[in-house]
Amino acid sequence: MDKFVNQLKIAFASQYAFAIKTQNYHWNVEGIDFYQKHKMFQKIYEETYGAVDDFAENIRKIKAYTPASLYRFSALAAIDDELEILDPQAMIAELLRDAEKMQEIMKVLFVEAENLGHHGLSNFLADRQDAFAKHAWFLRSTLKD
Ligand SMILES: [Fe+2]
Repeated sequence: MDKFVNQLKIAFASQYAFAIKTQNYHWNVEGIDFYQKHKMFQKIYEETYGAVDDFAENIRKIKAYTPASLYRFSALAAIDDELEILDPQAMIAELLRDAEKMQEIMKVLFVEAENLGHHGLSNFLADRQDAFAKHAWFLRSTLKD
């Protein structure tokens, strides 16, 4: 159970880091298709931020405390911060890798949640996996020439 709670905190912090990185790209993207990419990144970070509160409350429901500081998010997250200004294609490729990583994190946690009988939580994790699958689809399709 402790290992599961820790993995859940990592997933939560990773999702936060994913949202911040996507908003970074929304702000800093440039180029010929600026508006299209600016909007796509916005759609993705809005969806992701929209799930932050439910995720935190799901951690509380299993009697654990939720990480809630930039320091803790940074220490726990499995998604690397973006410190450079990338070209648009590199931003999309990077975020695609991250979205696929997030899908995998949710997939693994879903099985653990089911094993522990946390069915409400496993439903939520299945929804998160699906949301990241959709983000990955949009990013993958945008990368195609
Ligand atoms: Fe904006």
